Amino acid sequence: MALLNILRYPDPRLHKVAKPVTEFGERLHQLVEDMAETMYDAPGVGLAATQVDVHERVVVIDVTEDKSRLMVFVNPEIVWASPEKQVYDEGCLSVPGIYDGVERPARVKVRAVDQHNVPFEVEADGLLAVCIQHEMDHLMGKVFVEYLSPLKRNRIKTKLQKEERELQREGRHA
Ligand code: NI
Repeated sequence: MALLNILRYPDPRLHKVAKPVTEFGERLHQLVEDMAETMYDAPGVGLAATQVDVHERVVVIDVTEDKSRLMVFVNPEIVWASPEKQVYDEGCLSVPGIYDGVERPARVKVRAVDQHNVPFEVEADGLLAVCIQHEMDHLMGKVFVEYLSPLKRNRIKTKLQKEERELQREGRHA
């Protein structure tokens, strides 16, 4: 088990498009374990492989209060999205300290396999629906701040770049 380094916006590697997983061996199992550990440690409710600089279609999510239900999505696809939308104040481990409203379909149906290549489907609403769509955007190289106005996005970029320089100056950067 290991904690992985989470890329911070505006790192250009967050915009890489992830490839489908084709091998379901030990390397994938280790990646899933490490991603789950990293997500729980952060703490966060979801993490996409893109955020730890692995550009494969892997997402881990746990939206429960007591961290009791880890969900592993490999090669996820949204097969249905509701016409009704909801706005939710989203945050992201790659955009620390920033929260803002994003409008997305309120319910989605997702088809995926788990880390053992066993297929499953989930119909999600509420926070889980938000989280699945947010993490699947990461796999396409999209960060939630891209839904915000250019003005807001530039403010966020400037703020995080300044923080990054301060962290590096203090030598605390992982
Ligand atoms: Ni995120």
